Amino acid sequence: MTMLLSTRGMTRYFAGLRAVHGVDFDLPEGQIRALIGPNGAGKTTFVSMLCGRIPPSEGMISFGGRDISRLPAHKRINLGMAYTFQITSVFARLSVAENVALAARRKVQGADAVARAVQGALDKVGLGDRPDQNAGDLSYGHQRLLEIAMGLVQEPRLLILDEPTQGLADSEIDAFKALIRDLSKSATILLIEHNMSVVMETADFVTVLNFGEILAEGTPQEIHADAAVQAAYLGTG
Ligand SMILES: Nc1ncnc2c1ncn2[C@@H]1O[C@H](COP(=O)(O)OP(=O)(O)O)[C@@H](O)[C@H]1O
Ligand SMILES: [Mg+2]
Repeated sequence: MTMLLSTRGMTRYFAGLRAVHGVDFDLPEGQIRALIGPNGAGKTTFVSMLCGRIPPSEGMISFGGRDISRLPAHKRINLGMAYTFQITSVFARLSVAENVALAARRKVQGADAVARAVQGALDKVGLGDRPDQNAGDLSYGHQRLLEIAMGLVQEPRLLILDEPTQGLADSEIDAFKALIRDLSKSATILLIEHNMSVVMETADFVTVLNFGEILAEGTPQEIHADAAVQAAYLGTG
């Protein structure tokens, strides 16, 4: 199997705290991978190292067969990584379409092509009917969807989503599951997700982090039935 992304020995300390420790992770091209684990397990820290927001204390990352451990974040974007983070980073005083256009211009040239790409991305996430709305006036959940549009307009090979369903209403979660399946036709997806129904219904494979280390990996069904995973979530492990 060709791996789009691999890490070896990924480790990150914050002062004395070991947030991520010795993570060997392999993500095949085309997969939808869920990354789950209790709060504080190190999920955000791990993906922050993948995309170059923070440097690892130790370890290496390869992407598309190339060692990217020392590449700055913008070069990783150029290679095809896109990501959204737990804290929304939309520009509140720009319109929905302008936010996506900023991201699109990293990849697409020409006003018409940018406009088409923007509308296509907004249609995909279900915001196609409100391009002119101020981004800051969107609900928190819709701002998360806008961020996904900003990621996918760059036609990434790998889309990393950090808790994208946080703040979405139950009625929006079903549409989100369909969106993930649709996006996976053109990108590999690494999804940090707390909503178990989203994990069970979209992920091909699941990695569980606990105390900064991989506790278990398997199909959603295997992970759901895993006693150690259940213990970690109940805090008894
Ligand atoms: N910038 C930081 N400075 C200090 N400690 C941090 C920082 N970011 C995360 N941590 C700590 O690292 C651990 C892992 O955090 P995080 O990666 O955010 O976990 P998760 O995303 O799984 O909830 C936690 O104990 C958290 O408090
Ligand atoms: Mg997190």
